[in-house]
Amino acid sequence: MDIDIVSVFPEYFDVLKLSLLGKAQDNGLVRIAAHNLRDWTHDVHHSVDDTPVGGGAGMVMKPEVWGECLDELLGVKPGGEGSDDVAGATADANDTVLIFPNPSAPLFTQRDAAELSHAGRLVFGCGRYEGYDARIPEYYRARGVDVREYSIGDYVLNGGEVAVSVMLEAITRLLPGFMGNPESIVEESYTGGNALLEYHQYTKPALWRTVAVPDILLGGDHGKVYRFRRDEALERTSAIRPDLIQALDCKQLDKADRKTLMALGWDVSQAHPRRAA
Ligand code: ADE
Repeated sequence: MDIDIVSVFPEYFDVLKLSLLGKAQDNGLVRIAAHNLRDWTHDVHHSVDDTPVGGGAGMVMKPEVWGECLDELLGVKPGGEGSDDVAGATADANDTVLIFPNPSAPLFTQRDAAELSHAGRLVFGCGRYEGYDARIPEYYRARGVDVREYSIGDYVLNGGEVAVSVMLEAITRLLPGFMGNPESIVEESYTGGNALLEYHQYTKPALWRTVAVPDILLGGDHGKVYRFRRDEALERTSAIRPDLIQALDCKQLDKADRKTLMALGWDVSQAHPRRAA
């Protein structure tokens, strides 16, 4: 997978050379290039932002600089003023996704990470200040580029760099060959159609200070271990993320799942669980 990141702080992404992502780059599984947006400016101050049209606080990132940068990275032929010429769409547009982190966009989820892990190339654009001119994603969308905007959570960061790091890690760890043990991905929280939070994990010793590992995990009965973990996942999800329980497909739940959910106060007689009256 080819990854390009555009930011006014490209050094921020030096950390991507560490750990598993560093190894994946050494092995040629991913190529990551961080670019400085200011390299596409022409003025002495290398300015990338301007005041918001219509008034308001802060500064907005200018479309011209982003335009020159993205035309080059995406291979898009610039359309003239008012032009709706789409002939300049990227040759590899089907395989490339342009992503802008944005606190006012839909939430980025594990489902998005899984989908994006199949892309051949990702280009991330990091906004700063009060954000970027809204015509930038609009323009590239109109030129046939697959453009996404995502928020990583209901809070506001100083810029898109942290959000890009989060998305990039969530996506690349799903690439075949990235993880030492690919099975560890299968049972994770948010994975699969009927997503639940993960059950608690323990390692040795069986008794640490005053706290013991649950006996059932030490007994070696795989059926009982499965049920114990499944019930724990259902209980934790019900308490912490009831929205995920409400999104479950009741048809995919087995008899024991239904019993556990009913004991937790859920009505499982409809398509999706509802709080029992
Ligand atoms: N930029 C600033 N805050 C952000 C957020 N929560 N998600 C994505 N990008 C952002």
